[in-house]
Amino acid sequence: MHRVSMLDTSLRDGQKSLGINLSVNEKLEISRQLVRLGVDVIEAGYPAASPLELEAVRKIAREIKGVIICGFARVNEREIDCCAAALKEAGQSRIHTGIAVSPFYMEKKLRLTPGQVVDLAVAAVKHAKKYVGDVQFYAEDAFRSDRAFLVQVLEKVIEAGATVVNIPDTLGYATPWECGEMISYIRNNVRNIHRAVISVHCHNDLGMATANSLAGIKAGADQVEGTINGIGERAGNTCLEEIIMALYSHRSSIGIQCGAKPQELTATSRLVSRLTGVPVPAHKAIVGSNAYSGDPASLEEIGPGENAPLEIVAQDDHDLSALETGIEQRGILIKNISITTTGASRATATVTLDLDGNTVTEAACGAGPVDAVFKAVDLLVGEQVYLEDFMLKSVGRGRETLGDATVKVRYGDKGLVVGRGVSSDVIEASARAYANALSKVKTMIRENAAQGRV
Ligand code: KIV
Ligand code: ZN
Repeated sequence: MHRVSMLDTSLRDGQKSLGINLSVNEKLEISRQLVRLGVDVIEAGYPAASPLELEAVRKIAREIKGVIICGFARVNEREIDCCAAALKEAGQSRIHTGIAVSPFYMEKKLRLTPGQVVDLAVAAVKHAKKYVGDVQFYAEDAFRSDRAFLVQVLEKVIEAGATVVNIPDTLGYATPWECGEMISYIRNNVRNIHRAVISVHCHNDLGMATANSLAGIKAGADQVEGTINGIGERAGNTCLEEIIMALYSHRSSIGIQCGAKPQELTATSRLVSRLTGVPVPAHKAIVGSNAYSGDPASLEEIGPGENAPLEIVAQDDHDLSALETGIEQRGILIKNISITTTGASRATATVTLDLDGNTVTEAACGAGPVDAVFKAVDLLVGEQVYLEDFMLKSVGRGRETLGDATVKVRYGDKGLVVGRGVSSDVIEASARAYANALSKVKTMIRENAAQGRV
């Protein structure tokens, strides 16, 4: 049976989702879960993008073993040097470099001639090869490129040492038949393609990323790229959970397998949703709470012979007490909250926090209890943040239900920070989520100061 490898790019391309701002520890936590899930490659980030990104890739490379750790760099020596430095302690490392190959991108975005693009691509691959044996080349916007030119670029980068060639549908515009045809074309026309792995990388703008990736795999791609829950810019990337379950469910008929473990999909999806603050809709395929939610009719419809594979992901992994205590609550802890309501919508909250080991209390008024609590926490913590979003949902069933709050706060131009809190009391859950976000903001300020940035 042909084995296709899985490259997870949640921490690189996925992080481009509006509002996702993961801390180094959160990226490590996701990486550990990706290893449990059984992906083959973790694209850990883009080290030249910022000192924090460099630090995250460095830590992932140092701590996460048993999987290839891949770093992203554009075709310039400084970015490749930075990427190589970040990957130094990895057990298995890969540098992913590349450049756009469509006429539109080359002329309008890069202002380069096709000849210059080929030269830069070859030089970048050769430079990356000085550091690592495994070099992946991406041909950005490949689907709008001139085919003869694409073939020329791929032959040259493989000659220069590229071990993987990534064919992205950058704009999420391709159809499944085009995708299959493109991979077959590359297989049949790139002279030295037997020396490289072909990778498919799709975006979901037309809602076809999963179908496109599967068509690419069926046509002979050996690696598929995607993100957990499909996170990524615009409409996101290919959902890896959908690919994993599609390959698993139809393994006997399509004869293609992957090394991922379907039993880990729910936990992985929930972790990514919790840390990114990007909710998973109830009806989302595979990992949504309604998807195959034990409805025997839907399981029967899958038919015999496929072992009702979706039972595997339709597990209720809510360990409520673990949820309540398991969220990172360092730095700022809620010790006590008391609320007095005055009139229909006014409330006063008195909040006591443990703030870096000191017990402090403050009271504030607000338009309702949650607003009053957030204002009291603001006074105590003293950071200027803007509340962008606040979500409250219940987890668990019946009397055991807990309130699960997520807040997104904006801190200056540093992007959005997500906080989450769980409690049997919804006001306390909200306060915990807000305190969790502010703890992260304070950590971010400390890390930036340590890196010499304001
Ligand atoms: O979508 C894309 O083209 C990409 C490449 C930069 C790999 O993410
Ligand atoms: Zn992409």
